[in-house]
Amino acid sequence: MASYETLIVETRGKVGLVTLNRPKALNALNSQLIAELNTVLDGFERDPGIGCIVITGSEKAFAAGADIMEMKDKTYPESYLEDFITSWDRVAQRRKPMIAAVAGFALGGGCELAMMCDFILAADTAKFGQPEIKLGVMPGAGGTQRLTRFVGKSKAMEMCLTGRMMDAAEAERVGLVSRVIPAAELVDEAVKVASQIADMSLPTVMMTKESVNRSYETTLAEGIRFERRVFHAMFALADQKEGMGAFAEKRKPAFKNR
Ligand code: CAA
Repeated sequence: MASYETLIVETRGKVGLVTLNRPKALNALNSQLIAELNTVLDGFERDPGIGCIVITGSEKAFAAGADIMEMKDKTYPESYLEDFITSWDRVAQRRKPMIAAVAGFALGGGCELAMMCDFILAADTAKFGQPEIKLGVMPGAGGTQRLTRFVGKSKAMEMCLTGRMMDAAEAERVGLVSRVIPAAELVDEAVKVASQIADMSLPTVMMTKESVNRSYETTLAEGIRFERRVFHAMFALADQKEGMGAFAEKRKPAFKNR
C-alpha cells in the first residue's frame, strides 16, 4: 500500500482504516492532508474488498480544524479562484459507508469532517466545536448546515456564535454522535462496527446510505417515494434472495455483493 505523509492507511479485513497523522499540528487539515485523504478514499471506493471505511485521529485530537497557518494570509481572490474547501466535499460524496471515530478535539473543520461521515462514534474524551468565530470567520466546510441538521438551530447557533465546545456526553444526548465509547476501546470498537457493516450486502448497504441521506435533501413524501423505489429494486439483488433464504433455512447469509 502507498505511504502518505499525513495519513496512516491500513486495511483490517474488509475495513479501510485511515488515521489522520499530523501530530505536531493536532491533525490540522491542510491541503495536502485533504488531497491524500481523497486519494485514499478513491482507492477504497474502487476496491471491491473494502466494505466500510473508518476515519480516526489521535488520542488528543481527531482534528483541530483547518490548518490556520495555511489560511491566515489567504486573500479573497485566492480563496475564490482556488475554490478553497470545495475539494473537501468529495469526502461527503462517497458511496461506501464511512464512520468517524473521534477522540479528543474535533474542532472547526475537524468537526465538519466528522459530520461528513455517515455516523460518529465518540470516545469519552471527545470534544466537538465550531470555534471559527474566534478567528474572525465562520465554519466553511459545512458546519453551519450539517451541525444545524444534527443538533437543531438553538444549539448549532450557540456553538457557531460562541465557539463553545460540546463534550461527548452532550454530543450523544443531542444526537451529534451515535454512541460514546471508552477512549481505549474506540478504534477497535469502530473497526468492529465497520466489519459488521462490511459483512452485509455492499449494494444493499450503499442503497441504504443513499436513502437515509435523501432524507436531508427532500420532502418527506419525495423521500418515501425514493425509499419505496429503492426498496423494490432490492428484490432484483441475489443478496435479497440469499438474506431472506438464509433466514428461512436458519443459517447465516453469505452475501455475494450482487
Ligand atoms: N491549524 C494549525 N495548527 C494548529 C491548529 C490548527 N487548526 N490547531 C492546533 N495547531 C497547532 C498549534 O499551533 C501548536 O503548534 P506549535 O506546537 O507549533 O505551537 C500545536 O498544534 C499544538 O496546539 P496547542 O499548543 O494550541 O495545544 P493545546 O492543547 O494548548 O490547545 C486546542 C489545543 C484548544 C485545540 C488549540 O490548539 C486550538 O484552539 N486550536 C485551533 C482550533 C480552531 O480554531 N479550529 C478551527 C480552525 S478554522 C476552520 O476549521 C475553518 C473551517 O471551517 C474549515
